[in-house]
Parts: sequence; structure tokens; C-alpha cells
Amino acid sequence: MTEFKSFVTSPLDKISKSMYGRNMQEINTLKQRLREITHLRSALAILQWDQEVYMPEEGSGFRGETLAYLAGLNHTKFIALDNDGLLSKLHQAVQAGEIVGDDAVIVEEVWRDFEREQKLPTEFVEALAKLTSEANSVWIKARKANDFALFAPYLERIVAMSREQAKLIGYNDSPYDALLNMYEPGATTSEVATTLEMLKTFLVPFIQKLKTSADQPDASLLLGTYPIDKQVDFNKHVAETLGFNFSCGRVDVSAHPFCTNFNPYDVRFTTRYNIEDIWGSVGSTVHEVGHGLYEQGLQAEHFGTPLAEYISLGIHESQSRMWENQVGKSKPFWQFFYPKLQAEFPEPFTSIELEDFYRAINSVMPSLIRTESDEVTYNLHIIIRFEIEKELIEGTLEVKDVPQVWNRKYKEYLGIEVPNDAQGVLQDVHWSHGSFGYFPTYTLGNLYAAQLFTQAKKEIPDLETKFARGEFAPLLVWLREKIHIHGKRFTAGALIEEITGKPLSSTYFTAYLEEKYTEIYQKKENRHE
Ligand code: CO
Repeated sequence: MTEFKSFVTSPLDKISKSMYGRNMQEINTLKQRLREITHLRSALAILQWDQEVYMPEEGSGFRGETLAYLAGLNHTKFIALDNDGLLSKLHQAVQAGEIVGDDAVIVEEVWRDFEREQKLPTEFVEALAKLTSEANSVWIKARKANDFALFAPYLERIVAMSREQAKLIGYNDSPYDALLNMYEPGATTSEVATTLEMLKTFLVPFIQKLKTSADQPDASLLLGTYPIDKQVDFNKHVAETLGFNFSCGRVDVSAHPFCTNFNPYDVRFTTRYNIEDIWGSVGSTVHEVGHGLYEQGLQAEHFGTPLAEYISLGIHESQSRMWENQVGKSKPFWQFFYPKLQAEFPEPFTSIELEDFYRAINSVMPSLIRTESDEVTYNLHIIIRFEIEKELIEGTLEVKDVPQVWNRKYKEYLGIEVPNDAQGVLQDVHWSHGSFGYFPTYTLGNLYAAQLFTQAKKEIPDLETKFARGEFAPLLVWLREKIHIHGKRFTAGALIEEITGKPLSSTYFTAYLEEKYTEIYQKKENRHE
């Protein structure tokens, strides 16, 4: 990634060098210690990747022990950053204005994580890890047995410990703030709640309108038999064309697609294949490539510091979502790739027109399972989870009432009956991990993606015409310059405002949906092809 050298100079950089010369030695010591922690984290990431991709089933017990040991070591080393007062001293120097620019970003980002970590007693961290590890295996059983009552006592204890965690970390307004900030630094519960409420007000009637439209896309067109080896080749071709660098990365197969990196020159993503479903593998690939392109765009020269780390889960997800939806489910994208898809899979695609294929991959259908839902209804799945977990953490909802509330909201927002808890409240792994505050970052990602893509279209001439010619580099270069190379220099909110001139708003996303889906769901004669 050497072609994306840093040319970010904050005005502060110019005055910085002479002012904090005396802190230079300490900064270098901090960087050295961070580098050691990063080596540990890389090793952990490789083991976790291997666990999902290659490890034999029986290996899970000892692997779990190895991972827990290394995670503990990592935590200990991180807390030890301040054993000799080094980090506190640097933090004070930043506060006093003696350290500015990139070094200040490094110190303050490390300080923020450190401050949070050291507020949590080791016994608390261990107890939570033990509880969630048990809860996860109970959750797997409960989902299999369709028995919420089995999982409920664990969820109660996790909620109680998460509330305790929020109290230990501290918050101003809602205890949910403390948890949300672990994933989306700087976001507040009240802002997120307002934004999601606005989005819900748009989505519920919009989905109803699409559902009752006389001209429905035919998703059954996608049914077929797609030999796996051909899917592998096609997916690799797509990933390469979008700009994923396979000399600094790999693709493998796992049950749940994900992306990870060990360093900027070794970024791994996974996808999954189903012989009857080409769209599943392509959709997952393009999504994970979006994550991978972000990680390949982080600057190697800053590896081991927050300057080469992603900003937040929401921003990470904005990259995957933009490539998956704004790009990968657009007509220009398929104008380029469809002939290749038809050549690889003449059955069924030779007899299906591009227009009908495009409509099929974009059909909107309220459904029970979040991970299988389309880009429109997806956000209502998230809003339901956010509303429920916010109430659990704020103490206004009890665990025993969660299934009932869940089912009522699915009926109210998506118009569907939840037949059982396995396909309802028990479907997601997140709560068993104690990951409260995680869900809203998925929808924040969609909102960031739409707002950023609107800006990209303004700044890059004929962006979508370029897609139709197979030219994706202009968008990637734009994302690299605007987002990837900055690492953690900005918070998500500040970055969005810096790039688009406006704070985060759901209106870009709703305008995008309105334009795209009104056309897709229009009578054929009114559609512009
Ligand atoms: Co993702």
C-alpha cells in the first residue's frame, strides 16, 4: 500500500516538533511498548482466524484456553503501559499542549482505552469472560431447543454485569452510553435513538408501500445450481476487480463470513458457498472485501499505533456496506459483471435479462432472520434490538418480558408473526457475548455509507459510469484519501462532518432507498432502463 503515503498534515504538526522535543524519548518508548502489544494481538488474531477456518472441531477446548491465556497476557501488558507512570505523564503533556499532532492522537487514543480498562477490576473482567463463555454454550443449546427459559437466567446475569460495567466505566446520561462507546467512540445514546427513530418513521410505511406494489421483482429467478469451484473463481475475480490485493491478503471459507487482519500486509476475509445460491457468496464476498479494502488502506508505517487502526465499528461497517449495497447491488456494477456471470453460469442466466436480475437481487421482503434480510428491512431488525437492549441496560425492561416485546415489535414494524424464539429473540449471538451497544453500529454503518457515497458521487465525475466500465479504483482512491489513511485521527462524527460538511443524518440513506426502490418497484413501462 505504499502508493497511499500519508499527506495528512494537521496545522498543529508545524509547531509540534520543537515544542515537545523533551517528550520524544517517552513517545518512542510508548510506541515500542505498543508494538509489543500489537505482536500479541496479531498472534491472537491468527489463532482466532484459524479457529474459524481450519481448526478441527475437537481442538476447540484447548484453543479456548490458549486464546484466554493470550488475551489475559494482552490485557496485563496493556494495563502495564502505565506501571512507571509513562502513559499518565504523556497524557498530561498532551493536556498541557506540549504534545500535539499525530503523537497527541496516539497518546490520547491509548489513554482512552487504558482509562476504561483500568476502571474494570481484573476479577470483574475474568468473571464476565467466564459468564459469557458459559452463556454462549447455553445460548447454542437454548436456540437448538427453542427454549428461551434456558438462556434467560444467563441473560439476566449478563445484563446485570453489563449495567455494573457501565457504572464502573462511568457515563453522563444513559448507562448505555458507556457500552455504545466501546464500539462507537463519541456516539451518544440519545443521538443514536433520535436518528434511528427518524429512520423507523420512514421505513415502516416505505416497506409497506413496496410490499403492496403491483409489480414485484421475482427473486425466484436466482434459483439454480452453481458449481462451487466456479463460484470460487467468480468471487475471486470480483474481489480483485474491486481492488483487493491478494499479495497482501487471502480469501477462505467459514460458516460465518468475516474479515480480520494480522498487519496491513496480511488481511484475510472469508465467504461461504452454497451450491444453490450464487448470490449468497457474491454478497458476502463484496461485503467482506469492503472491510478488507479498509484494512489494506490503513498505513503500514503507523502499524502498532492508533494511527493505523479503524475508527469505529460503524465506520468499518460503512465501508463493507457501501461496497456491498451502493456499489455491488447497483445496476452499473452488474452492467460490468453480468456478462461474465452469464458466461460462467449460462444456466440460468442466459435467459434472464440484466434488468430482471438486478431487480431480483434487490427484492425487499420482511423476514424473520436479520442476517438474511435485504438492505431496507435490515435496519428494522437492528432498531428492534437497539430499543430492547437500551431498555434492558437502562433498567426499564426485564429479561423475562423480552420475547414478548421482541414479537410485538416484529409484528408492529415488519408486519410478521414470529413463530418461535429460535427464529426470534434467540437468533443472534451478540447478547450471549455480552456485546450490548454493538447492534446500532450496523445501522450507523448504513447511514455513514449513504452519506459518504452521496459525497463521493459529487466529487468523482461519472462515478457510476466508471463502475459500468469496471473502473472501481476512483472510488477506492477517494475512500483511502478521505478515510483509510487517517486511522483514528478523527472520531466517526467528526470525520463525517469533515468529509460531507454535514453531521450524520438518516436523510441520505432514506433518499437513496427512495430513489433506488421506487424505480425497482415501478411498472415496467415507467422504469428507465
Ligand atoms: Co460487516
